[in-house]
Amino acid sequence: HITIKSICCIGAGYVGGPTCAVIAHKNPHIKVTIVDLNAARIAAWNSDELPIYEPGLDEVVKSTRGRNLFFSTDVDAGILEADLIFVSVNTPTKIKGIGAGFAADLGYVESATRKIAEVAKSDKIVVEKSTVPCRTAQSMRYILEANAKPDIHFDILSNPEFLAEGTAISDLFYPDRVLIGSLDTERGRSAAASLADVYAGWVARDQIITMNLWSSELSKLAANALLAQRISSINALSAICEATGADIDEVSYACGLDTRIGPKFLKASVGFGGSCFQKDILNLVYLSESLHLPEVATYWKQVVEMNEYQKRRFTNRVISCLFNTLTGKKIAVFGFAFKKDTGDTRESPAITLVNYFREEKAYISIFDPKVEESQVWMDLTEPGVVDETEAVKKQVSIAADPYEAAAGADAIVICTEWNDFRETVLDYERIYASMKKPAFIFDGRLILDAKKVSQIGFKVETIGRPRTTFVQSKDFE
Ligand code: NAD
Ligand code: UDX
Repeated sequence: HITIKSICCIGAGYVGGPTCAVIAHKNPHIKVTIVDLNAARIAAWNSDELPIYEPGLDEVVKSTRGRNLFFSTDVDAGILEADLIFVSVNTPTKIKGIGAGFAADLGYVESATRKIAEVAKSDKIVVEKSTVPCRTAQSMRYILEANAKPDIHFDILSNPEFLAEGTAISDLFYPDRVLIGSLDTERGRSAAASLADVYAGWVARDQIITMNLWSSELSKLAANALLAQRISSINALSAICEATGADIDEVSYACGLDTRIGPKFLKASVGFGGSCFQKDILNLVYLSESLHLPEVATYWKQVVEMNEYQKRRFTNRVISCLFNTLTGKKIAVFGFAFKKDTGDTRESPAITLVNYFREEKAYISIFDPKVEESQVWMDLTEPGVVDETEAVKKQVSIAADPYEAAAGADAIVICTEWNDFRETVLDYERIYASMKKPAFIFDGRLILDAKKVSQIGFKVETIGRPRTTFVQSKDFE
């Protein structure tokens, strides 16, 4: 098999950027060029302010950039020079046409593939890094073969990425496994061996596993579906806890001690977010329907529906505790990112909650340590709707710190589990003094020591724990 000397990655996003920066960092003998059509994004990768926030990413990029790691808008040059090309472009859910709302939009994958076929003047190994529906490699192969110059061969591999945002660098440094799917032919196996050598620069050989292309593609959707299903399961149980007096953290702990279940990924929350879970499950639902497996489709769809229900349920609890009306009240939203340690807001539950609060005519003040202000306005408005931002700004403001967000508020709603919001870090006495009374905290992430915070005077309402403040109608019976 060939030894890879030059790699091109198409797509300088949350996956392409960190993944290929780590590949370059760990393989100083390989030249890695990350290309993107988005010039502003490439400029940011080449500057001191990287376009994404990830703990440890700055160090990796700054120690490698200009040595054997390059960021460029010249897609053609990147393709021409490379032996191996990662396709790491976005695959969002289709918003129009057949499969709208479920199927993945493969337009970006296809245009990157066509570009490779058009430009390449030598054999290439083309690697699917994007998360794609099962059998996408076959479509890529047709496109490449139909458009290739004579005597040029392409080998297609599937190499899904399992990093999670907020921990991308440590996930890449110490992966549970690296998965490479190939055709079971001599060429396919040989291409897989070349890619395996790249990862062997820092990953133990027995953690680099190879398998058939379709299994590899499906494993990525399957892993995300199983992970999201755990959260929806624990969130469904959190509703039972709230109604019975059980405590979801205790239930998770008790269940997680069973080695068959394990303790990770059992934290109840206001709902899962992120660019992957919902998209990939909907993709799996669409795949199941296309394969005439409606029962399978319904099973997975329920994972997403439970997530929507959890966000609605938590909002209802806020409204009910605040005497059944939010009209004119100030709600401080702590955290807008979909999880801690990232500035990413894609599918963040905070967006849904803020929209619900707006419908109830509340004033909302948002604080997040990493999310850009312009991103918040983008998330709270429909693309292309003129002047909508002005209407949103009448109800929503962005605070410079949590104290400003909470000043004069009736309630704090914790949407993201940033450590910054813990009672060991924030001065909740100061916050309490500045709020309307009774002052409520709704902990949607189970990050507060409820006992300590309620001693200050707060009414603390925690997801997965029974309601602590009075239930109006019953008290008067
Ligand atoms: P992203 O939107 O952050 O980045 C994709 C980039 O590709 C964009 O910068 C876009 O400009 C660029 N692009 C699109 N078409 C192009 C083309 N034809 N030529 C050059 N550049 C092009 O997306 P992301 O979060 O990095 O996700 C990429 C893929 O990885 C998706 O399929 C996603 O499902 C998968 N994935 C994401 C994560 C995650 O945590 N974000 C984890 C695992 C897998
Ligand atoms: C996920 C997968 O974990 C990763 O393997 C895949 O490559 C991309 O999709 P990501 O979305 O970045 O990663 O973050 P993840 O840590 O999985 O969290 C997703 C959402 O679930 C977040 O909103 C998080 O807060 C929530 N979550 C996670 C819970 O509510 N409870 C948990 O126990 C774990």
